[in-house]
Amino acid sequence: MKAIVLNNVEDNYNLSIQDVQKPVANAGEVVVKLKAAALNRRDVMIASGNYPGTEVPKIIGSDGAGEVVSIGNDVTDVSVGAKVIINPGLNWGNNPNVKSAAFTILGMPVDGTFAEFIKIPAENVYPKPQHLSWEEAAALPLSGLTGYRALITKGNVQANENVFIPGAGGGVATYLIQFAKALNANVYVSSSQQEKIDCALKLGAQSGVNYKDADWETKLLDQSQGMDLTIDSVGGESFKSFINIGKLGSRIVSFGATRGPVPNLLLPTMTLKEITLLGSTMGSPNDFKNMIDLVEQHQIKPVIGSRYNLEETPEALKALTHGENFGKIVIRISE
Ligand SMILES: NC(=O)c1ccc[n+]([C@@H]2O[C@H](COP(=O)([O-])OP(=O)(O)OC[C@H]3O[C@@H](n4cnc5c(N)ncnc54)[C@H](OP(=O)(O)O)[C@@H]3O)[C@@H](O)[C@H]2O)c1
Repeated sequence: MKAIVLNNVEDNYNLSIQDVQKPVANAGEVVVKLKAAALNRRDVMIASGNYPGTEVPKIIGSDGAGEVVSIGNDVTDVSVGAKVIINPGLNWGNNPNVKSAAFTILGMPVDGTFAEFIKIPAENVYPKPQHLSWEEAAALPLSGLTGYRALITKGNVQANENVFIPGAGGGVATYLIQFAKALNANVYVSSSQQEKIDCALKLGAQSGVNYKDADWETKLLDQSQGMDLTIDSVGGESFKSFINIGKLGSRIVSFGATRGPVPNLLLPTMTLKEITLLGSTMGSPNDFKNMIDLVEQHQIKPVIGSRYNLEETPEALKALTHGENFGKIVIRISE
């Protein structure tokens, strides 16, 4: 089968399309013929040699959807021909509050979805929501799951709360906007580009600011009178602003740090405002199931920024690095 293989981590993006052995399902596993996959920031970090524990050669990619073509001996609840979406979180464990030490994500160190076929534990496949195309289904898993846990399981978003989502153009951010809107929260966003703010408004955001403007914090406070909940994946310098715009007793959920570590954290302000800071990573199998239910109930459609063919995956990763898109970048694999 054809697959995108990371060959070494010394050179940036040392990826090539290769003919590799088609996987065979062991006990408890299924083999899925992938129709489409999608990119995440994690793939960029792995391909550029910036992800701890990277092993080579490896097929990368965490997101995918397709059809089950074979099943292991003892698999009873998935059948050949099932149309499925893949939960990329492996070995979450039994505690819904925190992942186990054995937790890993598809695409490193386990072979991932940028391939024609993948083998995966049967418990990680879920019926594809019928209202989604293959490309839309492939765009959902990792970002949808991360957004669901951050906003709902951890953030406990409530109707009519003010929710701030920095970096509206990001892959997870578009789901955060859609999920928060579905639950009747007031959504505020920031972005580096007016076009992306406009896209966020179309998805249901109330208003947005350009984080490159020196006075974005003041503008946002004028528009909103402060936030009940901020869902952050930016970190860095911006983080102190999230404390400034938080209402008394508000919450901040952090699930990433695209801009790196947070300097000069204003602990006294956080303390005096009694702000709660919560960390969040991916999500449990239960979060995944609840996320799919929410998407089906509200007929939410993932936002796809652009599409590439499997052999164009290196270019797609570079496009993600340059922040060219609003929403997810999808890889087309088979008809
Ligand atoms: N913990 C987890 O389980 C988990 C899961 C998924 C992702 N993550 C992390 O979460 C982050 C986002 O992931 P993603 O896949 O959504 O990435 P992405 O699609 O690359 O989005 C990143 C976005 O960050 C925004 N941004 C950059 N600098 C900013 C700043 N100074 N202020 C506000 N926004 C800024 C940009 O928004 P604009 O384009 O609108 O300017 C960009 O689109 C990454 O760091 C990733 O590693 C963690």
